[in-house]
Amino acid sequence: MVYTDKDKKYRRYTVTSALPYANGPVHIGHLAGVYVPADVYVRYLRAQGEQVMFIGGSDEHGVPITIKARREGCTPQDIVDRYHKIIKDSFAELGISFDIYSRTSSKEHHETAAAYFKKLYEEGKFIEKVSQQYYDEEAGCFLADRYITGTCPHCGNEHAYGDQCEACGTSLNATDLINPKSALSGSKPVLKDTKHWFLPLDQDEPWLREWILEGHKGDWKTNVYGQCKSWIDAGLQPRAVTRDLDWGVKVPLEGTDGKVLYVWFDAPIGYISFTKQLKGDDWQKWWKDQDTKLVHFIGKDNIVFHCIIFPSMLHADGSYILPANVPANEFLNLEGDKISTSRNWAVWLHEYLKDFPGKQDVLRYTLCSNAPETKDNDFTWKDFQLKNNSELVAILGNFVNRTLVLTHKFYGGHVPALGNLSAQDEEIVKELATFPERIGRSIETYRFREALAEMMNLARLGNKYLTDTEPWKLIKSDPERTATVMNLSLQICANLAVLCAPFLPFTADKLHLMLNLPAKGWQDAGRADLLMEGHTIGTPELLFEQISDEAIQAQVDKLQATKAQNELNAWKPAEVKAPVTIDDFGKMDIRVGTILECQKVPKADKLLQFKIEDGMGTRTIVSGIAKFYPEPEKLVGKQVCFIANFPPRKLKGVESQGMILSAEDKDGRLVLLTPSDTVTPGCNVG
Ligand code: 2FM
Ligand code: ZN
Repeated sequence: MVYTDKDKKYRRYTVTSALPYANGPVHIGHLAGVYVPADVYVRYLRAQGEQVMFIGGSDEHGVPITIKARREGCTPQDIVDRYHKIIKDSFAELGISFDIYSRTSSKEHHETAAAYFKKLYEEGKFIEKVSQQYYDEEAGCFLADRYITGTCPHCGNEHAYGDQCEACGTSLNATDLINPKSALSGSKPVLKDTKHWFLPLDQDEPWLREWILEGHKGDWKTNVYGQCKSWIDAGLQPRAVTRDLDWGVKVPLEGTDGKVLYVWFDAPIGYISFTKQLKGDDWQKWWKDQDTKLVHFIGKDNIVFHCIIFPSMLHADGSYILPANVPANEFLNLEGDKISTSRNWAVWLHEYLKDFPGKQDVLRYTLCSNAPETKDNDFTWKDFQLKNNSELVAILGNFVNRTLVLTHKFYGGHVPALGNLSAQDEEIVKELATFPERIGRSIETYRFREALAEMMNLARLGNKYLTDTEPWKLIKSDPERTATVMNLSLQICANLAVLCAPFLPFTADKLHLMLNLPAKGWQDAGRADLLMEGHTIGTPELLFEQISDEAIQAQVDKLQATKAQNELNAWKPAEVKAPVTIDDFGKMDIRVGTILECQKVPKADKLLQFKIEDGMGTRTIVSGIAKFYPEPEKLVGKQVCFIANFPPRKLKGVESQGMILSAEDKDGRLVLLTPSDTVTPGCNVG
C-alpha cells in the first residue's frame, strides 16, 4: 500500500469537511476551523483545473439531538429538519461551494452505512461482546453516551457526560463516571448486560503506527501528528460501534431491535454515501483509486475519529484509500472566551448574514486571516472592523478603485497601451509573475493565512506602484509612461481578480465584472497581458465599504447582553446560614419608619443620608445604596424597615443611627424593603 502522499501527483481530489451536528446553527468557530479553509482549498484546486469533489452535509444522529427533541417536545426528525435547512442555506449564502450538501438521515445514507457494517460483520472484522452498560429502570432503556452524566474522574467536573468530559476534554466511558445519573429521569442507573460490536483498534496499531507516525511525519500538521502519536502510544482499545438507542441507523442484523450504529461509525460513512448520491455509479474512483487524494478538513476535537477510527474502518473494508492529509485546526475563541453553544457565546452565521448583508467576503477574510491554524485564536468585533476598514477597504479596495477610476478618467474606460518598460516596471512584471506560485504553495500546504497575506501583498504592491509613480500627476508631463503604469496597474487588478477568488469569491466576481474580464484559470495568472490594449472595462464600484463604529457596537452590545444573561442564569441563592433561636432573633429591634428627607452624602458616591420619622422623633441613617437610587428626593414619603438598636457610627462624618434593610437581587442591585401597606412609624417588624 502507498502510505504517503508526499510529492505525489494526483488525478483527482476528494475533499470532505466535518459534518456539523444538525442540533444548532453553525458559528464562526466552525467556519474558521473547517469550512472557510476547505472552501479556499477546493476553489483553488478547481482554478488549477483539477478534478475536485467537495463533500458536506449534516450529521443527524447522536444522543444530543434526541435529548434536544425530548426537551422541546418534538421528534428528532423535527430538530434535524429545522437545523439542516438553516445550516445548508447559510453555507450557500457564504459561498461555501460544496458539490453536495446532504444529510445522514437520508434513506441512501442509512442503506450505505448499514451495508458497510454488514460487510465488516460478515468478514468477521468486529469483536462481539456482552458488556455491562447503564440502564435506567424508570425510563426502561439503556443510557448511551450523553444520556448519562456524572463526575469526571480526571478533573472533578460534576457535569461530565458518559462519552466525554467537556471541562477537561477527556474521552470517557460511562462506567468511568463517579455518581452516575440518568439524564432522562435523574435516577441512579443500574448496570445491565447488553451485546455490542467493537472495532478491534488494538489490532490496527502496527499499521497505524507505520502509516501515520512514520509515513506522515513532517507532512501532517504538528497538532494532528502529536494527537495521533499520543493516542497510539497510549495503546489503542477496541471501540464499540453500536449503541442501545432508537435514533440512528438500525443495526442490520437479526434480533438487534433497539440497537443502532454509533453516530461516529455512521457519520464518516456519510462522506461515502453522499459521494454515491452525487456521482451515481461513478462514485468508486473518488474513494478507491490510489490516484485520488482524500483530504479531511476538521476541527481538533475530531482528530482521533478521522485519523484513527475512520481509517481503521476503511482499512477493515480493504478497498478504500486512506486520507492523504487531515489538516485539523485548533479552536477560535470569541472576545477572549471559549465559543459555547449552550451559553450562546457565538457569532452565528445565519445572524451575521442578516446583520451584515452583502458582506460575506468580509467574514471570510477575517476568519481566514485569523484562522486557528497552529494555536487557538481570538475573534473580536474590533479586529473584524479593523480588517475591513484598514485592509480590505484601504488596501485592496483602494488600489482597484484608484486604477479603475483613473482608467475611465484618462482613457474613457479603455486599457491604454503598454509602452517601453522602465526598470521599475520590469520589476513589477517580474514580481507579479511570482504570486500564483507563492499563494498556491501556501494553499497546497494548508497555510491559508499565509496564502491570504500573499494575495494582499499583491494589492500592496499595486498600491505602492501607484503611490510611487503618481499617474494623476504624471499624465501632464509624460502621457506615454502614464499609459504604461495604468496598463500594468490594470494587469495587477486582473491578476487580483483571479488570485483573490478562492478567498473572496464575491469580490472576485465583482472585479471580473468591473474589468469585463472573462473567467481565467490559475495558470493564466502571473501574466501582465490578461487585459489587451483597447479592451473596454466596466463601471467601477467600491469593492468594500467602511464598517461603522455603531455597527460594531451593536454586536458588542449583543454579546454583553448574552454575558449578563449567562451570569444571571448561573446565579444561585446563598446557602442558608446556621440555625438561630427565636431569642437570637428577638434581640434585633426592627422597625418601620417614614422617609422625611433623603440626599447624597457629599464626597461619598455610594452613600445616601436619610432623615427618618421613627415614632419617637427623627433619626439619621446613612445607607450605601446611592448607586441604585439616583434620584433620592423621590424616596421622600416612602416607608422603610430599619434596625433601630445598632450602636451609632460615623460614616463620612455623618452619624448613622441604625441600618436600613434592603434585598440584594441576583445582579447585585440593592432594593429597599417597604411594607405592602402604610403603617404607623415606629411599629415593630417581627
Ligand atoms: O464534531 C462534530 O460536529 C461531528 N458532527 C463531526 C462529524 S464529521 C464526520 F465524521 F461525519
Ligand atoms: Zn474532566
